[in-house]
Amino acid sequence: MSGEKSRLEELLARIAAANAAYYERDAPEITDAEYDALRREAEAILARHPEWREAGAPLARVGGRPASGFRKIIHRTPMLSLDNVLSPEEFAEFLARIRRFLGLKDEALDFVAEPKIDGLSISLTYEGRRFVTGATRGDGIEGEDVTANMLTLRELPRELPGDAPDFIEIRGEVYMTKADFLALNEAQERKFANPRNAAAGSLRQLDPAVTARRRLSLFAYAQGESSAPVAKTHWQYLQTLKRWGFPVNPLSRPVKEGEAAAFQAEMAASRADLPYDIDGVVYKVDDLALQSRLGFVGRAPRWAVAWKFPAERASTTLEDIEIQVGRTGALTPRARLKPVNIGGVLVTYATLHNEDEIVRKDIRIGDTVELQRAGDVIPQILRVLRHAPGSRPFAFPDHCPVCGALALRVDDDVVRRCTGGLSCPAQVVERLIHFCSRGAFDIEGMGEKTVREFHEAGLLKSAPDVFALPRHEAEIAAREGWGPVSAARLTAAIEARREISLARFIYALGIRRIGETNARLLARHYGSYRHWREAMLAARTIGSEARQELGDISGIGPAIAQDLLAFFAEAHNLQTLARLEREVRVRDEPAAARHSPLSGKVIVFTGTLTMARPEAKSRAEALGAKVTESVSKKTDYVVVGAEPGSKARKAAELGVKILTEAEFRELAGLGGME
Ligand code: IVH
Repeated sequence: MSGEKSRLEELLARIAAANAAYYERDAPEITDAEYDALRREAEAILARHPEWREAGAPLARVGGRPASGFRKIIHRTPMLSLDNVLSPEEFAEFLARIRRFLGLKDEALDFVAEPKIDGLSISLTYEGRRFVTGATRGDGIEGEDVTANMLTLRELPRELPGDAPDFIEIRGEVYMTKADFLALNEAQERKFANPRNAAAGSLRQLDPAVTARRRLSLFAYAQGESSAPVAKTHWQYLQTLKRWGFPVNPLSRPVKEGEAAAFQAEMAASRADLPYDIDGVVYKVDDLALQSRLGFVGRAPRWAVAWKFPAERASTTLEDIEIQVGRTGALTPRARLKPVNIGGVLVTYATLHNEDEIVRKDIRIGDTVELQRAGDVIPQILRVLRHAPGSRPFAFPDHCPVCGALALRVDDDVVRRCTGGLSCPAQVVERLIHFCSRGAFDIEGMGEKTVREFHEAGLLKSAPDVFALPRHEAEIAAREGWGPVSAARLTAAIEARREISLARFIYALGIRRIGETNARLLARHYGSYRHWREAMLAARTIGSEARQELGDISGIGPAIAQDLLAFFAEAHNLQTLARLEREVRVRDEPAAARHSPLSGKVIVFTGTLTMARPEAKSRAEALGAKVTESVSKKTDYVVVGAEPGSKARKAAELGVKILTEAEFRELAGLGGME
């Protein structure tokens, strides 16, 4: 095999691995710049050896396979990607290619320039001017049905005005603002590397309630299939989208080809100040008739290009590796740097992910390191440029730096955890912060800073102490930075939260692996605090009925059950619960969710219902049902609308109970059909 052929194979394998990491796991392992470099090299080899094109087929596929768990939607018009350029010379080549293709001489081309949003692309379909589906790109041909999740975006138009075509696919980008990304990461233990991953992770949630709590944003910017033409130019098209109620990026603007470089510079300069991440500018030929003549080549249109910003890199000295201890005792390293300016942002910390990353890159204190801030809010260390003279490999602590207890890695966990539990002040503070946070008791004014202050002052040792604070109002009022007004306001905020839903209460306890979704599952299943507590205590006995019941809750796996039982096995946790019981009132789950005949049932919808499918799905889910796409022996009900397809047949074959829409409405307590 020639050297070039084997190099091509290596490149294709690395591209495939990078695709899988990026698209399927939302966890890119290489930077965009590195990815682009791999693609370019592979494309260059293929240009010299067209006979190997077949082997290069994966290059033509955009992205990776859709992740499982969502229904698949086939895009009417494939969702393609864009070719990249990095310099004025490459942009000139792009222009020359268009001229050649169209046989143009010197006439200047008109473009629309749009910031390239670092999010994930979405295809929105409207039928009869009503929103029907939202799908991710997936592999470009078929994507994942994220309709229910898209409905949680307030900015998404539900209906289009009368001048919109009967059928239309509208494309755009779902993204998370920098501010929403930072707030999200602060609130949860699992940190996303950047806003794009946070947006992808939030949109691709099987539970739309989770998406609803994350704040996602949208920009519309492209066309898919349409039953009637909408505009003659791309610029007009964008104006139309705006009129129809879509968010359209206000920085987009028509430019002559000669103005592109200046626009590029302008965007690069304002990039750091924008509320969202952009990684370049997209230039699109404005005239739609020209666009359709230009068409596509491989995975990308000939009429558009993404002019990417160079990745922003810098080198500096790594001054220290600090270890932070989280709520569940996780020891997380981060690099403290000699402050350095990267693309207009002063950087003092970089993420180190975990212990293994430090070993893999052999990062040592005092090293000169190369950093990259590629649209990421938290910069990453690319590599060590120079070890510090006389340095030694970093010894990751095997004891908690805060309380001194042993820190262990259990089984194949990548994370080392402090075993100090509630005797570790770091864990105590993190748990208190969690207890008061937005998804838990949601106590206004009890943010991270205040919790730390009261903990240090000895006013807060464990969660129930939060509700004892009003009894110390005078003492708080006398503290520096406080006064009678702010202390009274805090008291009022705490008093306002003495009543709480069962789901929030369970979540607030900060039990490992019991995030908001699992807390809700438990709340729905057990219904009342008393019942849940009794069941958890009983479940500590191996072989008990309660243990069996816990294991049978769909969504609660063995690891989660173990964490719950470990919590209930600790005497001090039971004391905490007993004290909390005296301070707060935990509301029972609304009976509708628990006693509904749909609770815990697996339901499949098929055929056309009078209610839009996303609505039927979310109604059923709100009543505790699980809605799936395919009929199996596990299905409890198949709800058939007009013109049912193979699913109804399959249900009949398997003997699964079939419900008409009227019967479903009856069960769901939704009233009759009009
Ligand atoms: S147009 C056929 N416009 O960049 C052309 N894409 O690298 C379709 N993107 O998949 C894309 N901002 O997810 C277009 N203003 C913009 C964009 C944009 C971000 C993303 C999009 C696309 C990727 C290509």
